[in-house]
Amino acid sequence: MVAIFLSLLLITGFSAAIHGQQGNSSISLGSSLSPNTNPYWLSGSGQFAFGFYEKDDGFAIGIWFQKIRQNTVVWTANRDNPPLPRNVTLLLTNDGRLVLEQEQGRKTALTDSLQSASSASSASMLDTGNFVLYDSSSTIIWRTFDSPTDTILPGQPLLMGNDLISSISETNHSRGKFRLVMQGDGNLVQYPSGTPPKGDNAYWNSKTFDAGDNVSLNLDRNGQLFLLNSTGFNIMNLTGQRNPSHNFSLYRLTLDFDGILRLYSRSLNQNDDDWSIEWSPTSNHCDPTGLCGINAYCTLQEQKAVCTCPPGFDFLDQGQHNLGCKRNSSADGCTSKNGETVDTLQELESVEWEDNPYSNLSLNKIECREDCLKDCKCVAALFKDQTCRKQNFPLRFGRERQDNSGFTIIKVSFGSSNTTQVSRGRKKQQEMGVLIGGFALFVFALIMLAFSAFLILKYRLWSYKMVPYEVNEGLVEDVSIRAFTYRELEVATNGFVEQLGKGSFGTVFKGALSNGQRKIAVKKLEKVVAEGDVEFKNEMRSVGRTNHRNLVRLLGYCHDGFNRLLVYEYMSNGTLSDYLFKSEIKPNWEERIKISLNIARGILYLHEECETHIIHCDLNPNNILMDEHGCAKLADFGLAKLLMPDHSKTLTGIRGTRGYVAPEWHKNLPITVKVDVYSFGVVFLVIICSRKNIDINAPEEEAILVNWVYDCFKANEVSKLVPEEVDQQSLERMIRIGLWCIEEDPATRPSIKKVVQMLEGTVEIPEPPCAQSSF
Ligand SMILES: *[C@@H]1O[C@H](CO)[C@@H](O)[C@H](O)[C@H]1NC(C)=O
Ligand SMILES: *[C@@H]1O[C@H](CO)[C@@H](O)[C@H](O)[C@H]1NC(C)=O
Ligand SMILES: *[C@@H]1O[C@H](CO)[C@@H](O)[C@H](O)[C@H]1NC(C)=O
Ligand SMILES: *[C@@H]1O[C@H](CO)[C@@H](O)[C@H](O)[C@H]1NC(C)=O
Ligand SMILES: *[C@@H]1O[C@H](CO)[C@@H](O)[C@H](O)[C@H]1NC(C)=O
Ligand SMILES: *[C@@H]1O[C@H](CO)[C@@H](O)[C@H](O)[C@H]1NC(C)=O
Ligand SMILES: *[C@@H]1O[C@H](CO)[C@@H](O)[C@H](O)[C@H]1NC(C)=O
Ligand SMILES: *[C@@H]1O[C@H](CO)[C@@H](O)[C@H](O)[C@H]1NC(C)=O
Ligand SMILES: *[C@@H]1O[C@H](CO)[C@@H](O)[C@H](O)[C@H]1NC(C)=O
Ligand SMILES: *[C@@H]1O[C@H](CO)[C@@H](O)[C@H](O)[C@H]1NC(C)=O
Repeated sequence: MVAIFLSLLLITGFSAAIHGQQGNSSISLGSSLSPNTNPYWLSGSGQFAFGFYEKDDGFAIGIWFQKIRQNTVVWTANRDNPPLPRNVTLLLTNDGRLVLEQEQGRKTALTDSLQSASSASSASMLDTGNFVLYDSSSTIIWRTFDSPTDTILPGQPLLMGNDLISSISETNHSRGKFRLVMQGDGNLVQYPSGTPPKGDNAYWNSKTFDAGDNVSLNLDRNGQLFLLNSTGFNIMNLTGQRNPSHNFSLYRLTLDFDGILRLYSRSLNQNDDDWSIEWSPTSNHCDPTGLCGINAYCTLQEQKAVCTCPPGFDFLDQGQHNLGCKRNSSADGCTSKNGETVDTLQELESVEWEDNPYSNLSLNKIECREDCLKDCKCVAALFKDQTCRKQNFPLRFGRERQDNSGFTIIKVSFGSSNTTQVSRGRKKQQEMGVLIGGFALFVFALIMLAFSAFLILKYRLWSYKMVPYEVNEGLVEDVSIRAFTYRELEVATNGFVEQLGKGSFGTVFKGALSNGQRKIAVKKLEKVVAEGDVEFKNEMRSVGRTNHRNLVRLLGYCHDGFNRLLVYEYMSNGTLSDYLFKSEIKPNWEERIKISLNIARGILYLHEECETHIIHCDLNPNNILMDEHGCAKLADFGLAKLLMPDHSKTLTGIRGTRGYVAPEWHKNLPITVKVDVYSFGVVFLVIICSRKNIDINAPEEEAILVNWVYDCFKANEVSKLVPEEVDQQSLERMIRIGLWCIEEDPATRPSIKKVVQMLEGTVEIPEPPCAQSSF
């Protein structure tokens, strides 16, 4: 077994070495690529690679910058296709076809344009980033430069009739929302894709509409971007005069997923760690038409585009605000006969929309309002220059405009939804799990949460896993979690001086990577019992694979001699404990509920959503961390196993943290996910009540929080539990949730999923059963 593994390593290492040395490698007939053994072909200088890159749970075929850390993808074959499985092969067959073999014996041309290509004699990944096929007389018969996706490179023209289409996101290279077209009339134009190329929809153009046909967009090696007409005259310089010293840089022109065209440069100097923007036609992030999806409008906040729903509307998807908004009530937009549904109107100033009225009347503003209110079809009315232009669904291309003096009158339906009424009328429901939609208690918290997650995801640097084995130093860099040497971490932490905290697993130190650019937290593990290298690495991989907005991200680990260290992203707001008790501004009631929901979501991910389900085993306010947006993230998950030599002996290495551990730890009962629910319950009560779990200075009956909560609940005095005045009903709900979680019997405790639903307010919370607390 070991021998096989070693020989695999040797083979893969060996083949990578060959490719490194091949120079202007001519790829001969009969060569092949596969994700497992030989994932890519390099260009002569190693700058570009063509082959398999990781996409979702599978692979895509593309071209990317290989020498730099965040391997920027510049081309993808069949970008909208689902990911390819691991056992796929890309072959340059002996008869000169470039084919994909997904099933044994079934070969299909890599792309449609290759179907009609004549047979090749060889292929090459050129140093320009162009992957080409040659015929027997060394003439290029097919090249990737002819079918750009969202990027062009120096030497790659964008010819008449061709376009760039943005990607869905930084990591999803499928066709996204925006298009840059080199039109037949000589004009270079940006449109939302999926709409007809109508002048009204365009959000940028080069104004060269009289330049005749065959105009092309060109980028040269100095990073100069210009338009050439059919006789080869430079008719427009988009970038200014370039200094020739720029020829030491890499360039790419990309239509980014946010709809903005950007010329990026990057110094060949290895220390320069990121792409910088050389040129862009727009600086206003709300410019791209339709950025926010239907019924939504774009506003600028600190130069960033933020999608907003008009009053009475809600996001279609709380996690993806750019998908648009929908009416937040099911009412049809008309005042109903029995008077239950009442429509109201609201005005939005300085928001412009696509003006596509089904009716336009000359009315004054009051008449316009009246008219829209009465008209079932009217969703909104654009009122400008004494005209009332009534609009139906969907409203499109909304964005805030400083210079827009018009008004949008939006119909808001506060239609009574049946569900809210039902949930009020049925309090004594004893069964857990009767789904009764109770709307809106935490809609606000949800929006905030989703929005911060959106921002975090959007700005997270991207690196993907490429090679299944750690072949050499260079390749390890690509794997999303990195192995560090002890020395590297010693340097990064300045010799382990600045201590951030101490937990049950070890001491945490502050540090920084990439010349101080990226702050990290380094945890030195103590008393690790899992000795096997393989086990430690496997565990690190499974932790490294987790990815959730409410989990602290593991960036790497060190496994060097006796040293075991973990490298995490740094959380600027410290531990939850500090956030609750030591910070100057204490979080208010809503924020506390939001934090609790963050934590519950993180646990839900660990228990049910990630690849290997993980029981945290030691949840407490000292290993829940707060990021700069006040979003809570769990740390130390996945470590319990390393400290437990044998899963049946539950009480050796780890004991959890006093006051937060479930009673089954003391009773030698099996440890299940419900131990985390218990710990969550205690943490939750601590957050809600904004006081410590055990407070020796408090009167005796109040010293132990869970007992005090229980007493207050029985005595119907829950308002004593919180420092401020809060809605009694809301408070009671929260206390009930907490009491359910700390039930003595693990089976009675709800699953974390149910807890999340209760916190979100989508299920009824029954009276907790009367049980003794564990103290
Ligand atoms: C590499 O390929 C390019 C393009 O075909 C060619 O111009 C160049 O001379 C080749 N270089 C070497 C070292 O073979
Ligand atoms: C990429 O976007 C497409 C289209 O929206 C979608 O079908 C696909 O699942 C997405 N892939 C990922 C990794 O999210
Ligand atoms: C890859 O695996 C799938 C199912 O596991 C199988 O159907 C397919 O034939 C395999 N392809 C190759 C090339 O072996
Ligand atoms: C435009 O360019 C293409 C390819 O370069 C050429 O075949 C065609 O004749 C050109 N058309 C005109 C009108 O110059
Ligand atoms: C290209 O531009 C040059 C300079 O403006 C002009 O003289 C020439 O006629 C143009 N060619 C075509 C085909 O329009
Ligand atoms: C663009 O710049 C080049 C020099 O880099 C110059 O020769 C050319 O005339 C310029 N074109 C226009 C239209 O100004
Ligand atoms: C880069 O510019 C310098 C002049 O500044 C020139 O000597 C050199 O040949 C250029 N290199 C390339 C690759 O164009
Ligand atoms: C719909 O939105 C309005 C204001 O945006 C809000 O007051 C109302 O409670 C929401 N209704 C529902 C059912 O969420
Ligand atoms: C709106 O008014 C203009 C004239 O002011 C007219 O041309 C147009 O057809 C009208 N549109 C609709 C939808 O009535
Ligand atoms: C509200 O309840 C009535 C009857 O109780 C039902 O006919 C109607 O469909 C419900 N509306 C919604 C939006 O659920």
